[in-house]
Amino acid sequence: MQAFVVRDHAGGRSATWEEVADPSPAPGGVVVQVRAAALAWSDVLQMEGGYVGAVPDPPFVCGHEFAGEVVAAGEQAQHRPGDRVFGFLAGPGAFAEYVAAPSGLVRRTPDALSDLDAAAFTTSFLTADAALVAVGGLTAGRSVLVHAAAGGVGRSAVQLAHVLDAGLVLATAGSPARRAAAEAAGATASAGYDDFADLVRERTGGRGVDVVLESVGGDVFDRSARLLAPFGRLVTIGASSGTPPQRLKLPLLWQRSISVCGVHIGRLLAEQPELLEPSWNRLLCLLAAGRITPGVGLVVTPAGIRHGIEALRSRIVDGRVVIDFTVGTAS
Ligand SMILES: NC(=O)c1ccc[n+]([C@@H]2O[C@H](COP(=O)([O-])OP(=O)(O)OC[C@H]3O[C@@H](n4cnc5c(N)ncnc54)[C@H](OP(=O)(O)O)[C@@H]3O)[C@@H](O)[C@H]2O)c1
Repeated sequence: MQAFVVRDHAGGRSATWEEVADPSPAPGGVVVQVRAAALAWSDVLQMEGGYVGAVPDPPFVCGHEFAGEVVAAGEQAQHRPGDRVFGFLAGPGAFAEYVAAPSGLVRRTPDALSDLDAAAFTTSFLTADAALVAVGGLTAGRSVLVHAAAGGVGRSAVQLAHVLDAGLVLATAGSPARRAAAEAAGATASAGYDDFADLVRERTGGRGVDVVLESVGGDVFDRSARLLAPFGRLVTIGASSGTPPQRLKLPLLWQRSISVCGVHIGRLLAEQPELLEPSWNRLLCLLAAGRITPGVGLVVTPAGIRHGIEALRSRIVDGRVVIDFTVGTAS
């Protein structure tokens, strides 16, 4: 089969479509013929070597999120050949014609959901829900600041906070057009990464926000921690800037009665999936009721994956970039 493989060369990393061995199902697992896979900025950072976090040594197949049809099932798998499913891999491996996954990491695709939308759903919404609700403690009436709110997780978090009746949904994004997209998704007001502190102070009367969803890293993390209201929680999920947070002084936590927490959806799915059941139930109900939408911003072919990468690099896509495998791979 064809897969998008990352390799190290003397001049750095590169990824290309290559022929690799077909996978077979593990006991309790399935093999899925991929019809769509979502490309995230974190995939690009993993391909190019700037990801803040654990990545396997090359060569490895890129990508985490996919949707398609089960073509083989191991003993005691929860799905059968012919089932439409979508899912998320704990490690990279989804940009391939066939993906082997444990049954617990895939779900039946709702009939009304296209494969393109299904591929874009899991990381964005499950991460947003786990971060805001399970870890961040967001409830109706509370205030939230969502960073990078025109991207996949950010846009999903804004939608969720809005439908969960958060009292105030503040957002950041990298350009006026992207801030407008965040407001269209449900943000009360938005600002850039340089001036979000002014927005938070102004809109909260200086009190600060109850929850921050932080994914940019570096100085954005450090400044956001100072904007938490007493007993507020900052949930950190990544560092899209490529720079980890560096300056937070821990005494700030007890001096201001605030918490900093982290969540990694791949780890939770692989190691404690039961903790995510309330999130899955809430999200699938909201999806069925049409109250949240996956938000595919750009569809590319496997041969056009570079176009998707460049679109993410130039930060022009509102929502998710999805690779349509039904048009064939790059071979
Ligand atoms: N912990 C977890 O379980 C988990 C799960 C999923 C994702 N994540 C992390 O969450 C972050 C967002 O993921 P995503 O899937 O939403 O990604 P995405 O859709 O590809 O969006 C990335 C976002 O990052 C923003 N950004 C800020 N600084 C950037 C920079 N220097 N270069 C490029 N983009 C930059 C971009 O918005 P602007 O251009 O508007 O700034 C864009 O909206 C990533 O860091 C990812 O690793 C973590």
